[in-house]
Amino acid sequence: MDTRFPPNFLWGTATAAHQVEGNNINSDIWLLEHVPGTPFVEPSGDAVDHYHRYPEDIALLADLGFNSYRFSIEWARVEPEDGFFSPAAINHYRQMLLACRAHGLRPMVTLHHFSSPRWVIARGGWADPATAASFARYCGRIARDLGDLIDSICTINEVNIAFLLSELGLLPSGIASRGEPPAFVIHAARALGIGPGDFHCFLYAATDRVRDVILLAHQNAVAAIKAERPALPVGMTIALQDLQAVSGGEAVRDTIRHRIQDVFLEAARGDDFVGVQTYSRERFGPDGKLPPEEGVELTQMYYEFWPEALEATLRYAHQIAGVPTIVTENGIATTDDTRRAAYYRRALEGVARCLQDGLDVRGFYAWSAFDNYEWSLGYRPVFGIIAVNRDTQERIVKPSARWLGEVARNGGF
Ligand code: NOJ
Repeated sequence: MDTRFPPNFLWGTATAAHQVEGNNINSDIWLLEHVPGTPFVEPSGDAVDHYHRYPEDIALLADLGFNSYRFSIEWARVEPEDGFFSPAAINHYRQMLLACRAHGLRPMVTLHHFSSPRWVIARGGWADPATAASFARYCGRIARDLGDLIDSICTINEVNIAFLLSELGLLPSGIASRGEPPAFVIHAARALGIGPGDFHCFLYAATDRVRDVILLAHQNAVAAIKAERPALPVGMTIALQDLQAVSGGEAVRDTIRHRIQDVFLEAARGDDFVGVQTYSRERFGPDGKLPPEEGVELTQMYYEFWPEALEATLRYAHQIAGVPTIVTENGIATTDDTRRAAYYRRALEGVARCLQDGLDVRGFYAWSAFDNYEWSLGYRPVFGIIAVNRDTQERIVKPSARWLGEVARNGGF
């Protein structure tokens, strides 16, 4: 198949501050990594020290052939206490944006990627509508101070993540039950001076109230950004698996899909774009979620190697949201890099079919630029197209990076 992409198509890789920068000590996630009973298998530590090594990293990504880079600005660094903004932290991100521009990478910036400042969680977190206002204030500040260098903004990464984890039974044990909260919540809440029932972090809180606050935060953020920079494209990103129904599983699938995808896609209707983040599929029978299909290869994340999921979710996002899409994340965790290249080839063939059918898909960002901190799973799952020796912080380019970079350079394959 001949896969030609439009000349202005965005080709990039994606990272998130907490997963690559290192020492994000003022965030709720850092706190969770270090409390007794933590659900995180290891702490993030120095990560891949992107905070200091971004100049070389950005140069490397540009050399490989990409024309864009998606990274996140860390709210916990920019606003370490309620209402106190750090000019030094803002300037750090200004330097990153300038480095991108100097190397011909169009910067796509995410303003919230799972981690929140500790003070936000201490004040009620994502169950408190005041968080929507605080988030919008921070977004407006970034738009004002850095918007001149930013190409597009993702307000919140994977607005639906906690709901997806909750519906699929993937929350840390004890968190969703009505009994005694798990030890890590008790300890984290105590460290913040609040009761365990008032601990509502972005990754794990999945109530209707939290959903409303998150979507309000997005709406308020869009307004705050547009007030500063009316022409800057803004959207949110959504975790979208291809949810398939098997032998009569349609009703179950549709109910779950409504809760974890539709309400969020519907909320994206007025936006400039919606970010589609797809890794695999999930199958449902009449009794609920099914295990991976026998014979289908599994990735290091224990879900199926299923690159065709991306084409399905792009079509679904267009159908429900009806706005342009950008693939803001796609990839697999595997130690066999030949499988990564094979995955990207098949996923991109799906994107090309969508484009041929007239869908307005504007870009593709591989997750991830580097092997990095996969949240509670630590450093074991490797999603990067560039490996990192974390003792020396040496970067080692994988063959999949060369392949994808060439595709980016040539606008197809
Ligand atoms: C989605 C998240 O945005 C990202 O932080 C995570 O590492 C990847 N998926 C892989 O699981």
